[in-house]
This record gives sequence, structure tokens and C-alpha cells, in this order.
Amino acid sequence: MVSVRQAIAQHAERFYKQQLNPDTDVLVTSGATEAMFAAILGLTDPGDEVIVFEPVYDTYVPNLVMAGAAPRYVPLRGDDWRFDADELAKAFNSRTKAIVINTPHNPTGKVFTRDELRTIAELCLKHNVVAITDEVYEHILYDDASHVRLATLPGMAERTLTISSLGKTFSVTGWKVGWAMGPAALVHAVNQAHQFITYAVATPLQAASSTALHLPFDFFEDLQASYQARRNRLVEILSRAGFKVFKPQGSYFIMIDWRGVAPRHVQDDMQFAHWLIQEIGVACIPASPFYQEVERQLGKYFARFAVCKRDETLNAAADRFAKLGRG
Ligand SMILES: Cc1ncc(COP(=O)(O)O)c(C=O)c1O
Repeated sequence: MVSVRQAIAQHAERFYKQQLNPDTDVLVTSGATEAMFAAILGLTDPGDEVIVFEPVYDTYVPNLVMAGAAPRYVPLRGDDWRFDADELAKAFNSRTKAIVINTPHNPTGKVFTRDELRTIAELCLKHNVVAITDEVYEHILYDDASHVRLATLPGMAERTLTISSLGKTFSVTGWKVGWAMGPAALVHAVNQAHQFITYAVATPLQAASSTALHLPFDFFEDLQASYQARRNRLVEILSRAGFKVFKPQGSYFIMIDWRGVAPRHVQDDMQFAHWLIQEIGVACIPASPFYQEVERQLGKYFARFAVCKRDETLNAAADRFAKLGRG
């Protein structure tokens, strides 16, 4: 049986031609969640700044606060959630220790392009900043989107910590087996925190993870095809219901703008979520918790739906949205 660290390194080589030494460059953690927390604790000091994109996946900022580091927000805007390169450049300063990039992105479904990642890489190199990437949705991609691993761009292998996990790729989100990969010095720093957070991950799950990571390419293609069908179906359902839909390029999620569909008494995303459950019978996640600072106002108009549902559940949602009397 190949050790899970070897299996993780072989998976990185198979899909991204990323070279990792399983003994020094891979750390197994209790899910990507712990990997991120240990990374932030291990790689930042109180008073450091860390750049995050807004909307931001909800664990990063509490992790930063617990570590005494300060988040610095760069907004993603527009239909394809792009960042402004000047705005990003201005966010870097002498206190910037790291930047966190989540691609494919929760909650928007954005997949950062190679050009966008190049811009980020240039700034990291210029300011001697570490990149921490959260790539848990690396295998959940739509249409012709492809996942680019920042660590494989020129100059970035030495300064990128890549985080991923078993949960989404193998549909075992409760297992909490994740990993952090990168240069030995960064991984060692993360291990200094991991050692005192969880210490180790359940051995049987590590053995099963090793088997999963070696599944043939067919498995990964089938996974994508099944999610592509569900994404298409949910986009169709939400569009027919009258929402402005931000078509995702990856991840489990679809963001919508609910203005124009909800009745006038619904004033924000929390009220929208309650109204949708009570009146229509469909649940969503209000978007404002993903908006911490720059675009707080915008988050109030958005909600996030999940694609990872059975066909029956999606069909039931379609029937319930029919109550809106559209389409
Ligand atoms: C962007 C992102 N990172 C990390 C996680 C958690 O991953 P894990 O279950 O491996 O801790 C999630 C799960 O929702 C997620 O969406």
C-alpha cells in the first residue's frame, strides 16, 4: 500500500506535473479547513497583513483573527468576478505576509484564469509574499474551464502552499482528510501548528485516501460530467425562476441576484432566504457573510445555491419554483 503522502504527491504529478517530495513537501491534515488554519498560524505573525478576495470563503477571516493577522480585502466584481489589477497591486505593502487564493471559488464558482494567476504571481514575487491556495474544488469544473495550479507558474513553487482535500473530489465531505503541499520550509512551518491542533489524522481514512487518489482518469471525468449536468439543470431552474444567475465555471455553487424576483417587503439576503424557505420551500445561503468589508452592500442582494444535489431534489426545486408563475 502506497502511503497517503506518496499518493498525494503522485496525484500532483499526474494532474499538474508538480514535483513534490512526499517526506518533506506534503502534510496530511484534518481536512482543508485545518490545513488553512495551520497554514495561517504557521506562516503569519501577529500584525501581518494577509490579502483575501471578497466575497471570501467564511473560514479564512476568523483564522486570520485568531492568528492576530489582519485581512486586507480585494473585491471580485462583475459577471465574471474579476479583480482589478491596480486594486490588487495597491493591497500589497511592507506588512503583507501572504495572499489566499481559492480557485475554483466558493461562493462564486469563479475559476481564476492563468492570466489572473500570473498577475498574482508577479506581485507575490515583487513583494516577497507567500501564496496559500485553497483548491478543494480542483476537479469540479464546467464547460471548458481548466484548473491552473498557481504553484506551477514560474517562480511560484518556492513560495506557494497548495491546500486541497478528499472531500469534494471523492464526495466524502464528512471524512475531513486534507493536505498542504509545497516547499519543505513552508510545510514545516504549517506542521509546527498542525502538531498542536490535531496532531494526526485517522489512519484508516488515510489508507482509503491513498486508494482514492489512484483512481483512473475515468473516475475524474465521470465526476465532472455528473456535476456538469447538475450545474446545467440548476442554472436552467434558477434562470427560469427569473433570477440573475452568475454561471459558475467550477465548484459546488451558483450565485444569484434575487432582486426582481422577491416581493417588495424582502429587503436583504437574510429576509430573502427566509422568504424562499417559507413561501417556496427551497433553501439557499444568504451571501452577506461572504462579504466582510468592501462590497458589504452588494452581498445583501445575492444568495448561493448548491449544485451537489440528487436529480429528485433538483426536480422538486423546479416544481416549487413554478409557484412563482414564471417561465
Ligand atoms: C473553499 C473551501 N475550502 C475548504 C472547505 C472545507 O474542506 P474540508 O472538508 O476538506 O475541510 C470547503 C467546504 O465547504 C470549501 O468550500
